[in-house]
Amino acid sequence: MKLTWYGHSTFLLETESHAVLIDPFLDDNPASPVKAADVAADYILLTHGHFDHVADAAAIAQRTEATVIANFEIGQWLAKQGVSEAKIIGMNTGGAVATKFGRVKMTLAHHSSSLPDGSYGGSPGGYLLEVDGQRIYVSGDTCLFLDMKLIGVGGVDVAVLPIGDLFTMGPADSLEAVKMVGAKRVVPCHFNTWPPIEQDASSWAETVRQQTAAEPLVLEPGGSVEL
Ligand code: NI
Ligand code: MN
Repeated sequence: MKLTWYGHSTFLLETESHAVLIDPFLDDNPASPVKAADVAADYILLTHGHFDHVADAAAIAQRTEATVIANFEIGQWLAKQGVSEAKIIGMNTGGAVATKFGRVKMTLAHHSSSLPDGSYGGSPGGYLLEVDGQRIYVSGDTCLFLDMKLIGVGGVDVAVLPIGDLFTMGPADSLEAVKMVGAKRVVPCHFNTWPPIEQDASSWAETVRQQTAAEPLVLEPGGSVEL
């Protein structure tokens, strides 16, 4: 399968049969090389309600008829935006659901989750995906927390973690997160979108190599890696 980064926290995971879009923020994302009208999606996964994670979700869901997976409150908000309720899977922290591309479990995240119109966005989350025999942990926006050790039980092949600091964990805490989940490979995100979250990803990657057992996979916006 292939993982493509569109900048910020937007990723496209492509299996042999499905396109899984995560936290679509494209049209107003200064780092994105693509627009919302141009991406494919069979599924859309949302970690929380902030605009830099859900901005283009409703439009893409309506155009592609993708199934959207989000927390219950974001699911209700999407229905109000015109997304078909039959295409929304609302879940909550700790729950899991079997989909056509794999198993999706919603994990804990420590952050906030108001929606762009100010309405309540439920609890922020992350996802532990089991896809084609690999376990992929997408932490979402979060600080470092000790329960990441529980998320790592059973192994994590790939962790997708924020390193931008200010709104989420920064480079140093993401190193601890890599160790706690025991990730074999780690992809950084939520950095370099705007000046307040600028980071030197190559020096971060060097520290990951020195201090953890993980292989860092630093992508450029639009760049992909085979998983
Ligand atoms: Ni956020
Ligand atoms: Mn964010």
